[in-house]
Amino acid sequence: MARTRIEGGTVVTAVDTYAADVAIEGGKIVAIYQPGTFGAGAADDVVIDARGKYILPGGIDAHTHMEMPFGGTTASDDFETGTLAAAYGGTTSIVDFAIQSKGQALKQGLDAWHQKAEGQAAIDYAFHLIMTDVNETIAEEMGDIVKEGVTSFKMFMAYPGVLLVDDGQIFRGMQRAGELGALICMHAENGLPIDVLVAQAIAKGNTAPKFHSITRPQIMEAEGTHRAICLAEMAGAPVYMVHLSAERALTQVVEARDRGLPVYAETCPQYLFLDDSDLARTEGPWGEFEGAKYIATPPLRPKSMQEDLWRGLRTHDLQVVSTDHCPFCMKGQKELGRGNFAKVPNGMPGVETRLYLLWDGGVRTGRISMNRFVEITSTAPAKIFGLYPNKGTIAIGADADLLVWDPEKRHVLSDKTLHMRVDYTPYEGQEVVGAPTHVLSHGRVVIENGVYKGKKGDGRFVKRGTFAL
Ligand code: URP
Ligand code: ZN
Ligand code: ZN
Repeated sequence: MARTRIEGGTVVTAVDTYAADVAIEGGKIVAIYQPGTFGAGAADDVVIDARGKYILPGGIDAHTHMEMPFGGTTASDDFETGTLAAAYGGTTSIVDFAIQSKGQALKQGLDAWHQKAEGQAAIDYAFHLIMTDVNETIAEEMGDIVKEGVTSFKMFMAYPGVLLVDDGQIFRGMQRAGELGALICMHAENGLPIDVLVAQAIAKGNTAPKFHSITRPQIMEAEGTHRAICLAEMAGAPVYMVHLSAERALTQVVEARDRGLPVYAETCPQYLFLDDSDLARTEGPWGEFEGAKYIATPPLRPKSMQEDLWRGLRTHDLQVVSTDHCPFCMKGQKELGRGNFAKVPNGMPGVETRLYLLWDGGVRTGRISMNRFVEITSTAPAKIFGLYPNKGTIAIGADADLLVWDPEKRHVLSDKTLHMRVDYTPYEGQEVVGAPTHVLSHGRVVIENGVYKGKKGDGRFVKRGTFAL
């Protein structure tokens, strides 16, 4: 069997940095050598030169929404385009959110997402399941879903009438997750009072995109986070706060973790690099409506909170950076909310830009180490979501989902050169340093120096293990 060898690079894991050559066979890492000690390879070996570069575990994005129906439209990336864009940016696995529609069995929702993804993906994918209707029958069914390798469930305190479930349902879902070894992901924003503020703003004629953040104040995220933690503590279950954006929400997580509770949280690049002033932008092709590009939920927060989130990442109170990739084009999609910010579909593109932004704005600025970069983008999501040790590290026997990372590669982020199927990037014109030269999935090179070498359908559905931390 042909081997692939990555030679001359520096391996970086969540804990170690060392010079080594990595050998791959049958899609797995089979050996890690002291540099140059491999000896003569076979004639058909593929050799990748990683001199001057790092060898990293492929990125794992634990929060994406491909082809998600939302806000009267559908997220513009599907599993083909979204996973390809992910691969270009160095992400080799995603965990996407399947959705149970109200009144449906969980399995119906899951099957619908399998159909969307089957045969389409460039990289591996797994699913969480969003529950919109939790009763005793559904609680029972959660056990069947876990057996299918879908070991985490998301519930929403936000979006009344659409995705919101009440506290009784959340608590019952948490109890059952605790029994099953599953993990509950919480969207912790109190949607009912938020809807009152939104209606009041619209009635006053406050319809511009900037009112999205004004009507979703951080206190509603802090309250939701506190409530989710209390419910999880009472249910005896771990909980994972998705897309944490705000200082007061973080304080709740810190307090819970200090008490030894199994509370975990992710933030997203948009909360680390953008702020609520972006929602007030009026310069650019969309004029007064430019800010719609930045409408996602929770909203962008005051700039000062970025440093709180960086601190949380350094102190391990935040464990993961995922993207919440949920792209909508300005033309024909975000546009639905022209004249009424509440009708702008919520979500931003980001699956391709996560590693670029975190390397450039995290590692290069000294905010986090290279090892912490690997941990928050790959190892921690793998451990929290039952993908470890097959994924999330560089070790013998692990899947050869690897990046050869050029730490000095300069490029400018632009809608014209990125691959996500959306007509803008929130980071247009920003120069970043650091990019993969090679992206390997199961040992196959899928991206080489910006050229796609794989084929649609190479990515596989991955069954995940139960929560093991
Ligand atoms: O604005 C967002 N985040 N859209 C996706 C749905 C969600 O709440 O994660
Ligand atoms: Zn959410
Ligand atoms: Zn989301």
